[in-house]
Amino acid sequence: MTSSSPIGVFDSGLGGLTVLKEIVRLLPEYDFVYLGDNKRAPYGPRDFETVYHYTLEAVNWLFDKGCPLVILACNTASAKALRTIQQKDLPRIDPTKRVLGVIRPTTEVIGDYTETNHIGILGTKGTIDSASYVIEIQKSFPDVTVYQQACPAWVDLVESGEHLNAKADQPVQDCLHGLLNQCEGIDTILLGCTHYPLLLPKIREFINPAIQLVSQGEIVAESLVAYLRRHPEMEKKLSREGKIDFFTTGDTTTFGRAAGAFWGEEVPAQSASL
Ligand code: DGL
Repeated sequence: MTSSSPIGVFDSGLGGLTVLKEIVRLLPEYDFVYLGDNKRAPYGPRDFETVYHYTLEAVNWLFDKGCPLVILACNTASAKALRTIQQKDLPRIDPTKRVLGVIRPTTEVIGDYTETNHIGILGTKGTIDSASYVIEIQKSFPDVTVYQQACPAWVDLVESGEHLNAKADQPVQDCLHGLLNQCEGIDTILLGCTHYPLLLPKIREFINPAIQLVSQGEIVAESLVAYLRRHPEMEKKLSREGKIDFFTTGDTTTFGRAAGAFWGEEVPAQSASL
């Protein structure tokens, strides 16, 4: 029996699939385990302690599945749990394992997208309240001004599969106005929640086409490729059979169908309990 060492990808629900899809596009030969905590999504409105606690459970679950490397494909978890897990938990659990997030890779490049130096961030309440994007973008691009807007209804719209219905019109318009009314010069909007790319067609209906909308999937995938190049000791550990296993803490049929609509074909989801 060969034991596999997949890359773990975690999100509160379906959103992380937007990141996994891009990672698999660039690294198709590797094995992956995706875990969506759909049963407890959304994480956005939850307090720091709860998000940290849930995320640590998920990371431990992925470690138990044999993952030497876990990507938190969730901004809320990256904002609220990543640093504590990296600094406090990893040295205790297994110092050879790694957990990476999505905020740092994004903030390192997002300033290159704007010409006006005015960037808008859309995210969950948790991500926006943490001000992680404002702080991190300031470090890499001090000339850029960041405007933020929380979109509390959007994750539920995606999780319930209603994101492209007319029901999504008002919440999408409200948040876009909330952001764009802060500054006329915003030329770049970062979708700072991995669920939001699923809303892209809806967002585009209500936005000036000159404004660019940036999703994180590609950015995070490119950053992972660069990370593996810089860390051959990690790269060597990862198994390569091109296998992807999907797990959810929620209903497997619902997940498989919802993921399939996005993935191109229905995915066989397995049940996970954290
Ligand atoms: N997709 C996640 C994020 O990037 C989490 C959304 C949520 O569960 O509220 O923030």
